[in-house]
Amino acid sequence: MSFPLTRMRRLRHNPVLRDMVTETKVTTNDLIMPLFVCPGKNVKNPINSMPGNYQFSIDLLVEECKSLMDVGIRAIILFGIPEEKDDTGMIAAHDHAIIPQAIDAIKKQVPGMYVIADVCNCEYTTHGHCGVIVDGDVDNDKTFDSLVAQCITFARHGVDMVAPSDMMDGRVLRIREGLDSEGYYNTPIMAYSAKYASAFYGPFRDAADSAPQFGDRSSYQMNPANSNEAIREIELDIAEGADIVMVKPALSYMDIIRRARDRFDLPIAAYNVSGEFAMVKAAAEKGWIDENRIIKEILTSIKRAGSDIILTYHAKHFAEKLQ
Ligand code: PBG
Repeated sequence: MSFPLTRMRRLRHNPVLRDMVTETKVTTNDLIMPLFVCPGKNVKNPINSMPGNYQFSIDLLVEECKSLMDVGIRAIILFGIPEEKDDTGMIAAHDHAIIPQAIDAIKKQVPGMYVIADVCNCEYTTHGHCGVIVDGDVDNDKTFDSLVAQCITFARHGVDMVAPSDMMDGRVLRIREGLDSEGYYNTPIMAYSAKYASAFYGPFRDAADSAPQFGDRSSYQMNPANSNEAIREIELDIAEGADIVMVKPALSYMDIIRRARDRFDLPIAAYNVSGEFAMVKAAAEKGWIDENRIIKEILTSIKRAGSDIILTYHAKHFAEKLQ
């Protein structure tokens, strides 16, 4: 059937009907808010390139978690800014390190909050790379020790989920084995599976003080030109035991999200990263775009592309103003 019997505009005239036939709806259940935690007390350092985001000391991080819960954001992902760094990132796995301490405080004071820990080394290494350096490059297998140790420590402190973002081959398997050997077989792994070597991470590296001191991350993160390779990465992470796979960044990689959705049946997450967030904020500040409408459109289209879960710095704003 076609025109004049079919008229697509018929379903668009009435706002009630428009709502009724809306295919994609973003809710606070879909969102994870990233938070940065730093040493000290009563610290709330604004992150310049990410307006409305802060490095929080643990006491104020807990307050932020309470206010997120109040608006219906019930999941966070934590990034640590440590007191001290080392060569391997092993420093992040001590019981007194910043993330285990933050997990303790949140679990005690905001027990309903679902706490995910990003697992990587770049925030904790002196050189800013995601693993152990051998002959000027990140050594894949030597990097497992600190990743697995971090996961086991975080699990002991009650983390709800771990999310390795380092892009080493085989790390999901090693982490799964490590967690299981300590009895944490119910701790899910959300793998940053298709993580690209992207310029969109710029603001995050200031926020987390994690910029590489030499070279870049192209020997471990993916080439933005590749799509088939993303499918292989995701397939391998699933085979190694990933419970949720992630595509990152989101907006320039909607095609990857869609391919993954069409091919795999497990939950897919997409990371609406710092640079994507910063561009919206900067244009809104200049009055060039309608911030609220843009945020809603961005989150809706990331979900429409096929992701079930969105990690986004817009989460709190969305919960407060855009539902
Ligand atoms: C750590 C990590 C990064 C991000 C999340 N985990 C930075 C990087 O790989 O350089 C980026 C998040 C963002 O830009 O919002 N490896």
